[in-house]
Amino acid sequence: MGRDRLAFFRQVREHYHTTGAIAPSSRFLARAQTGPLVALKSRSQHPIRVLEVGPGTGAVTRRIVDLLEPGDRFDLVEINQAFADVLESRFLDDPPFARMSDSSRIHAIPLQDYTAEEPYDIIISGLPMNNFSQQLVAELFDAYFRLLSPEGTLSYFEYMFMRPLRKAVSGRDDRERVNQIETIMRKHRRQRKSRTSWVLANLPPAWVQHLSGVISDPIRSPDPSETRP
Ligand SMILES: C[S@@+](CC[C@H](N)C(=O)[O-])C[C@H]1O[C@@H](n2cnc3c(N)ncnc32)[C@H](O)[C@@H]1O
Repeated sequence: MGRDRLAFFRQVREHYHTTGAIAPSSRFLARAQTGPLVALKSRSQHPIRVLEVGPGTGAVTRRIVDLLEPGDRFDLVEINQAFADVLESRFLDDPPFARMSDSSRIHAIPLQDYTAEEPYDIIISGLPMNNFSQQLVAELFDAYFRLLSPEGTLSYFEYMFMRPLRKAVSGRDDRERVNQIETIMRKHRRQRKSRTSWVLANLPPAWVQHLSGVISDPIRSPDPSETRP
């Protein structure tokens, strides 16, 4: 665990823009992100397909491999080769990971370039959207819903109140960028069935947003006065 934290902090220092966190997810946040996976495993009789986006050193991956069985399919998409290398070695010699190694594959590429032969039942993502341009955020959300089955669930986390905080301390251009990111994310949440889990036991505390793969309300436009997360 200590070795993973060290590897994580080294990448935070060198690649803050894409890492966007001060610590790996806590086990409480990992648990909240995998809620829909637990529910699906309890009712599905068939092998399932899971995609993890931005696994980092594997704080959430550890919980995912515990929940899956070797017949399931698990893909991990990670932009940072150093993180992908840490995970590769995990799947070789860490027993809970090694149990799933034949059914898992790490793809060291950006999500926006990733394609899959079949859609996923579950996507779990830890991307630091608030660090990105509005164009990239739109592209990443398009990628999520291109890869997710209509019956599937996307779960992603974001740190609580990060956007208002960021807007309070940044200049006009950055405020405008953050506003546009908020609009994109809110539009997706409002168009689909969605729910929010609150996780206070994390550094910083976080919300996990769970969104369904299918659009249920295509014509509703975002309401800028809405204040829920
Ligand atoms: C906030 S860290 C989350 C790490 C881990 N999931 C956790 O919860 O501790 C964000 C991760 O997303 C990865 N990442 C950033 N942009 C990405 C992209 N476009 N495609 C795939 N991975 C990306 C980073 O390299 C990093 O591993």
